[in-house]
Amino acid sequence: MKVLNADFVTSAVRADGIPRDELPRMAFVGRSNVGKSSLINALARAKIARTSAAPGKTRLVNFYRLLVEGGRGGPGRWGLYFVDLPGYGYARGGSDAAHELALVSESYFSGDRDRAGGTLLLIDSRHPGLPADRDAARWLAGLSARPTIVATKIDKLTRGERVRNLRTLEDTFGMAALPVSAASGEGMDELWRTIASLTRNAA
Ligand code: GTP
Ligand code: MG
Repeated sequence: MKVLNADFVTSAVRADGIPRDELPRMAFVGRSNVGKSSLINALARAKIARTSAAPGKTRLVNFYRLLVEGGRGGPGRWGLYFVDLPGYGYARGGSDAAHELALVSESYFSGDRDRAGGTLLLIDSRHPGLPADRDAARWLAGLSARPTIVATKIDKLTRGERVRNLRTLEDTFGMAALPVSAASGEGMDELWRTIASLTRNAA
């Protein structure tokens, strides 16, 4: 599998700013600073998304278009959008995560539900089972967005923590989490296979 092209397309605030073509979409959802933008760059093998050590960097819904050759599903070219959604859990004042996520991402998830694609819910592997992440998973499930759980920054864990935290994630979310690291590249091939199975030839 090869990424032939990866480009920033647009930043949207509301539904009318969202691209309307038929390309499938892969949404990246997670707490602020969990590594959404970094993971997009690692998958794209290009610096298309802005990252920051300070949480709250991505405040809009950012769309990136990718053109890929081969991979799961055989040879041939296929395209998709990566959708970088604003991180929740950052705003001060204690509003609950599901509500924040609903506010900022509502137009994305309420728009054309029938479109092919999927949702990745990113969880910091150092902090499995936070209430904010459980709220987000519940909220997405309520929208039939059925998220795939991705455990980020796995490079930061010792072997023991890794085993323990992945088990906690599986217990919490009822499915195995896919461990990844944008820093080391671990899990990128497997995540691409998951993405292809959710989006490729499905439009
Ligand atoms: P917002 O846009 O604020 O919602 O954050 P985000 O989820 O897009 O996070 P971002 O990708 O900007 O990364 C936040 C911080 O985590 C940055 O300092 C990254 O360098 C760091 N980071 C992201 N992924 C990894 C990883 O896999 N390993 C390590 N060690 N650090 C990472
Ligand atoms: Mg970001």
